[in-house]
Amino acid sequence: MNNTLVWTKKDLLGLEYLTKEEIELILSTADSFKEVSTREIKKVPALRGKTVVNLFYEPSTRTRVSFEVAAKRLSADVINIASETSSVKKGETLIDTGRNIQALKADIIVMRHNYSGAAVVLARNVDLSVVNAGDGWHEHPTQALLDIFTLKEKLGKISGLNVTIVGDIAHSRVARSNIWGLAKLGAHVTVCAPQVLIPPAIDELGVRVLHDIDAALKDADAVNVLRMQFERDEESAFPKQMEYFQNYGITQERLKKVKKNIVIMHPGPINRGIEMSSEVADGANSVILEQVTNGIAVRMAVLFLVAQARDNKSSQG
Ligand code: CP
Repeated sequence: MNNTLVWTKKDLLGLEYLTKEEIELILSTADSFKEVSTREIKKVPALRGKTVVNLFYEPSTRTRVSFEVAAKRLSADVINIASETSSVKKGETLIDTGRNIQALKADIIVMRHNYSGAAVVLARNVDLSVVNAGDGWHEHPTQALLDIFTLKEKLGKISGLNVTIVGDIAHSRVARSNIWGLAKLGAHVTVCAPQVLIPPAIDELGVRVLHDIDAALKDADAVNVLRMQFERDEESAFPKQMEYFQNYGITQERLKKVKKNIVIMHPGPINRGIEMSSEVADGANSVILEQVTNGIAVRMAVLFLVAQARDNKSSQG
């Protein structure tokens, strides 16, 4: 890890925009913060006096709660805004909402939005820090960071690992962020799905594309199983759910033929019996709940680094 690097970005918008060293700095900072959650008093004063606004235009359980817990463990004040109960319902634009939150003297906006690129647009139009908590099909950087953090914790490294991502690659911001992050850290990434769920030009990102799940799992050190996104299924392009489970579902039977210690990941929420069986989701190789726990430390690291960068920028005028 390169601990001499100083984080200079006021925002975290996607792993596409980060260097290998910046990703490693987030991971090593998260390592230091992980211990805080094991204390009796789970709090440090790093963001005391700062205000974090969680601005969510889409439903979320893990990400929203995890950011709130992370901000509170850093002693920040936290305000949650859901678009359904805000002036977004009266037609307020994203930029106007952002500028009003800025006028209320917040320091960081954590935003989930249904449009790809929304976080980039907001970051260009406000001075406060913007952290992307998932934008459309584009990126979900903190999910990929917590996936990579968990993988590294389990297997001791990322470089040289074979990581298979299975499922709805076409509509997945989690897949995109994982591909950027894993590739930058030297992992070999395979994506596996029926052709209809593979986006065009995916091989330009340096991944191997397979349609046969058993071939994709054969040499895998880890498999990240994506959620089937039924709410985005506008054209009924998906294979039927049972057919999907038969052809791509991760089952104990399939795991008999792969590396004994394969790490099973899922960003959640899981569709049990479609993406994987319950035996696999709750089995010995699954790290799904460890991913959720690690999300707190990773998000503490991200909030801390972007706040520090913004403070450094304003002190330099
Ligand atoms: N993994 C994830 O983003 O879950 P939520 O939609 O519940 O935040």
